[in-house]
Amino acid sequence: MKIAIFGLGYVGSTAAGCIASQGHCVIGIDVNPVKVEAINAGRAPVHEPGLDDLISAARKDGRIAAVTELSDELAECDIAIVCVGTPSGVDGAHDMNHVAEVTRTIARHIDPTRHHPLTLVYRSTMRPGSCEKFILPIIEASLGDATGKAVELVYNPEFLREASAIDDYFNPPKIVIGTLQGARSANMAALYDEIDAPIFHVGMREAEITKFVDNSWHAVKVAFANEIGRICQNLDLSARQVHEIFKSDSKLNISATYTRPGGAFGGSCLPKDVRALQYIAADTGSATHLVDALLRSNEAHKHHQFQQATEGLERGAKVLMVGLSFKLETDDLRESPAVDMARKLLEAGYELEIYDPWVEPGNLVGQNLGYTYAWLPAIDGLLVDKARAESRVHDRVIATNRLVDDIAIDASRLVDMSVIP
Ligand SMILES: NC(=O)c1ccc[n+]([C@@H]2O[C@H](COP(=O)([O-])OP(=O)(O)OC[C@H]3O[C@@H](n4cnc5c(N)ncnc54)[C@H](O)[C@@H]3O)[C@@H](O)[C@H]2O)c1
Repeated sequence: MKIAIFGLGYVGSTAAGCIASQGHCVIGIDVNPVKVEAINAGRAPVHEPGLDDLISAARKDGRIAAVTELSDELAECDIAIVCVGTPSGVDGAHDMNHVAEVTRTIARHIDPTRHHPLTLVYRSTMRPGSCEKFILPIIEASLGDATGKAVELVYNPEFLREASAIDDYFNPPKIVIGTLQGARSANMAALYDEIDAPIFHVGMREAEITKFVDNSWHAVKVAFANEIGRICQNLDLSARQVHEIFKSDSKLNISATYTRPGGAFGGSCLPKDVRALQYIAADTGSATHLVDALLRSNEAHKHHQFQQATEGLERGAKVLMVGLSFKLETDDLRESPAVDMARKLLEAGYELEIYDPWVEPGNLVGQNLGYTYAWLPAIDGLLVDKARAESRVHDRVIATNRLVDDIAIDASRLVDMSVIP
């Protein structure tokens, strides 16, 4: 294929070298003449191990060239990939000036009567909605009704890491292809033909948010690791050994467990121990801002879920909550998010009933008993049996866990708090 790459920085020049090495013809476009000269001299415009070799080989074979200004190159291209920078703006949002500028240039140079649409791929990291609300209108302003036939818009985030960018290009952790309708793109399939990685065909906005999620998660991991490291140092214990133990656990720690958006955390251990770690951190001067934010984040989530569960529901409406303990098959109600939900529903004036076959107030003992009656003193009058739960007299059913799968309820009245779709 013939492929244009706009922006020859770390992402664009790596893509250019790797794609050319696969036998495609690449034309690079960058407003910076130094980068363009480097490519045309057979050198990498950025320092990236192995990239000089790829670019020099491709240049010798006549499979790569670069220009500072676009003329008629797009006419022969199957794909154009945009890799211009999206630095931080003054308000923290991405500065989209380079994306806007390059999009205007591309749109001006696309022939509206093209026989095959140009697959126009954005790799620059940008806010969800950018392709549909920011880029597409720029293209439509130039191409009008011909846009749909002349352009196939794709968002395809880049997962390379500088210094191992070439290996990451050929062995990515995943490939994400976002299109307006989540449809497959034949040109993207051809581009990734030789690369073996899980592939996700999704809507544009899900693809756009991927980098934000990944990079924020990496930042959370580093900040968390360093907070734990600080606590260990201040307690004069080995952070290295603690890390060895932590990372050895691929069942619960380094795993997908607890990463699915859904209900708040609760139960007898997590909130209590997070609270105590906060205390230890404060006591030792460890300044753990991330750990300190966890309980507040959890409370915010409980409130968010309460608002969602009661959206459009009139005061006095009949509400059934399915699941009261913090997870299935236990009667432990200590710090269960469902207890907080019940409390908020009662305070807001709803007529609440609760179904949870594992919870029998007469059987509660010890701290569990104390917690339950402190936080939900009306519990005896709230619990109902399965027949009542299935009676369909409730205006809304709020599921807090998968117990809801065991009862027959009207799906149109169900709000499921256990999974965020
Ligand atoms: N660097 C990474 O490791 C990495 C990884 C994944 C994603 N990203 C994202 O990819 C994008 C590019 O990152 P980068 O590190 O390669 O940026 P970079 O700053 O190294 O390169 C951007 C290039 O775009 C060029 N450019 C700007 N305006 C242009 C225009 N109108 N026409 C043509 N070229 C133009 C610049 O001259 C520059 O060479 C960013 O959105 C970044 O967030 C970066």
